[in-house]
Amino acid sequence: MLRKLPGDTARDLVSTTPDTAIVFRPTVVNTPAIVVIVIALWRFLAGIVHTVWRHPTAVASLLVPAAVAVRYGWTWAGLLVGSVLVLGVVWALLHRVSFLAVAGWRLLAFWRWMWIYRRHWQPVMVIAGLSKVMKGRDYLPVLVRVSCDDFTDRVTVKMLSGQSVEDWAKRTDHLAHAFGALSCRVSIVRAGRLLLTFPRRDPLATPIEALPIPPAVDLGAVPVGKREDGRPWTLKLHGTHVLVAGATGSGKGSIIWSAVRGLLPAVRAGLVQIIGLDPKLMELSYGRELFHRYASSPEECADALEETVALMHDRAGLYAGHQRSHTPSVAYPFVLVVVDEVAFLTAYQTDKHLRERVKAALATLTTQGRAVGVGVLAALQDPRKEVMSIRNLFPDKIALRLDESEQVDMVLGEGARDRGALADQISPIPERGAGVGFVRLETSPDPVRVRAAYVCDADIHAMVAEFASSPALPEVPSEEVA
Ligand SMILES: Nc1ncnc2c1ncn2[C@@H]1O[C@H](COP(=O)(O)OP(=O)(O)O)[C@@H](O)[C@H]1O
Ligand SMILES: [Mg+2]
Repeated sequence: MLRKLPGDTARDLVSTTPDTAIVFRPTVVNTPAIVVIVIALWRFLAGIVHTVWRHPTAVASLLVPAAVAVRYGWTWAGLLVGSVLVLGVVWALLHRVSFLAVAGWRLLAFWRWMWIYRRHWQPVMVIAGLSKVMKGRDYLPVLVRVSCDDFTDRVTVKMLSGQSVEDWAKRTDHLAHAFGALSCRVSIVRAGRLLLTFPRRDPLATPIEALPIPPAVDLGAVPVGKREDGRPWTLKLHGTHVLVAGATGSGKGSIIWSAVRGLLPAVRAGLVQIIGLDPKLMELSYGRELFHRYASSPEECADALEETVALMHDRAGLYAGHQRSHTPSVAYPFVLVVVDEVAFLTAYQTDKHLRERVKAALATLTTQGRAVGVGVLAALQDPRKEVMSIRNLFPDKIALRLDESEQVDMVLGEGARDRGALADQISPIPERGAGVGFVRLETSPDPVRVRAAYVCDADIHAMVAEFASSPALPEVPSEEVA
């Protein structure tokens, strides 16, 4: 494939190879013409093979009509194209999902590869500082593949040898603007390969209504909202602890209530108990009947936490030598401690003794609770260490809208903001930004953009009406369990 750099002299030939990260620019004036032609030809052929290999559907849709036109004439080629188009439209109308899976996304990916990414790749790489010039050669990262879905373009890139993920992460802003996207996120595919995710449209731009209460509860994947790729966002609650950080009005309540909502059938079955701690007496009080235990005063909260620690130790003693993980049962339900505005207990509390009690209990629960079926879901506004010294004990973290850019890495860990978790840029307008955030799970370093479904007061009211009637089941005393 031959390309000329803007502003180059006629002699400056630029070509890309599909499988090396080197772009050859023969700036040496005396290079024999035949060598330049052979290299250019070789790269041109390699480019064709690469295109056919990567985009067979798109290439076939051009080549087959061309072949028919040559062999049988334009009328037949026109008829063929016309009937394929009609069939395609009928197929898309009748069964959009299969049409998109088989042909639609591939054609779109081919179009965007050609028109957006391939066309602008070289100047963007050069201007963004991601290419290198050494000894008269331009070294360009290779655009390996583009794939599309409903909401995003995913671009696989082969980095230059010697480049790091950080080099790319620092340029996500340049890349997003250059390729006409709202943002760009970088993740690692394997050594030397990156995946750049460019959202084309935002499925999270408008509020999401409270999700239907699932008939069966999976504690490893409780549906709480939507991900940026349009797929459901599910939260693992059992076997982990979740910390939600966000400024006032960022929608922390919507995550708490979506999680509670998703657990209700299991609560009714006695397999889950939720303990609600509400030191600001704001968020949880409206649905307090849904909780196995509800506490709002700092003393009550400290008591509730310490009782949960005692229960945890009790279970740990029982499990020792018998089992290493917890399976929820009516005898041993999963206990989720939900703490809203946790800093009111751990930092702003004036009674030092109470503060220390709460901190000690939370630290014990978050370090030892996982294996015995105790989880913590805590929400706070200010993620600084002074406010929440134990924030690193929460394996899973969610950053909703934050006031300052430095807070993003405090919540999601080093490098998260560079990788695209722009939590400080989420809109403060509730319709656009409340409940929108970034998650970074223990199992993956890449932040995922999400939006929690909004559980409004009427939804909570209906939840109380439907689920609060069942009396809380007492825990079976430890002696009764083998
Ligand atoms: N997920 C959401 N989607 C849309 N709007 C929301 C969502 N969560 C909250 N809101 C709106 O934002 C307001 C503040 O939310 P809230 O949960 O009280 O914030 P926080 O607890 O973080 O201070 C709510 O009253 C509601 O109008
Ligand atoms: Mg709140």
